[in-house]
Amino acid sequence: LKRSSSTSSTVSYLTSRGFSSAPAPERKVTVLGAAGGIGQPLSLLMKLNPLVSSLSLYDIAGTPGVAADVSHINTRSEVKGYAGEDQLGQALEGSDIVIIPAGVPRKPGMTRDDLFKINAGIVKSLSEAIAKYCPNALVNMISNPVNSTVPIAAEVFKSKGVYDERRLFGVTTLDVVRAKTFYAGKAKVNVADVNVPVVGGHAGITILPLFSQASPKANLSDEEIIALTKRTQDGGTEVVEAKAGKGSATLSMAYAGAIFADACLKGLNGVPDVIECSFVQSSVTELPFFASKVRLGKNGVEEVFGLGPLTDFEQQGLEALKAELKSSIEKGVAFVHGN
Ligand code: NAI
Repeated sequence: LKRSSSTSSTVSYLTSRGFSSAPAPERKVTVLGAAGGIGQPLSLLMKLNPLVSSLSLYDIAGTPGVAADVSHINTRSEVKGYAGEDQLGQALEGSDIVIIPAGVPRKPGMTRDDLFKINAGIVKSLSEAIAKYCPNALVNMISNPVNSTVPIAAEVFKSKGVYDERRLFGVTTLDVVRAKTFYAGKAKVNVADVNVPVVGGHAGITILPLFSQASPKANLSDEEIIALTKRTQDGGTEVVEAKAGKGSATLSMAYAGAIFADACLKGLNGVPDVIECSFVQSSVTELPFFASKVRLGKNGVEEVFGLGPLTDFEQQGLEALKAELKSSIEKGVAFVHGN
């Protein structure tokens, strides 16, 4: 059996024709923040996915244009644009998957936590709407700081009595995408064959790539592994600095978001052995949320995998990230409870 996207490096629908001969079930995917830097290319990539039958594009403004544009592409899904809060319910109703790239991105010198003030409120109100209009949807959280926005969504869903830990995901796929690219470059192996698990969280040192478990194997020195780890952790900042005030990763993030949503769709459709890394509710460590490999299925998360054997360097990285990740999680929880 071919594993899903974690072992393939491209999204198959990008290279195949839009219309698939196999009948796929009806699936509605909604993008919240669809007119943004990530939202627009992500909407394009979701329009190319033959597993999507209905594509719902929501933003506070600008979505009619994005929707009209994307809707002319001759692929399966029917596209609808929704703008403004009074249309949010309609946008969400009946969604199988809700992808959230809504909120402000970083500027040079900012950490992801600096975004908390604005994005926490956005994520909280969008989560309230999801709880009301599509409580059974799988939620793919892209808005930063993911280490806090996922706990925020969880607390909102709990307060509304609709929380199912199997249906809430922090999207950390971009960390995996970067780790694969950087590893392939250093190890001089074909990037299409590379797999690297990335665990922990999605900010700075909480991003912990496990290069000892990378495949194909390569004989990299300790110095090379340290450099690769740091580059993966700082990958977002590399883009923020290169864009010099014009935002953060949008194109690579859209690609990563499309890979992760495609994996969720495959899981929902009963494709076996769909495995991706994601920041989910977890008992892998003592922290309530943690990113690791998960198996996706008809209910969302079917299995959360442990970390496997770690090198001393990785073990140290794991211990070092826990305090920051714990406080980011607690900050999200406290935000919802108003303290
Ligand atoms: P952007 O500013 O270009 O777009 C954000 C969009 O969200 C805008 O169109 C805005 O109108 C919309 N928005 C704001 N409030 C909203 C609301 N209440 N409801 C619906 N839409 C709303 O920002 P960009 O570059 O697309 O980044 C979006 C988020 O993704 C940021 O928080 C950024 O930090 C995060 N991000 C996450 C990554 C990850 O690996 N998880 C990687 C890169 C960025």
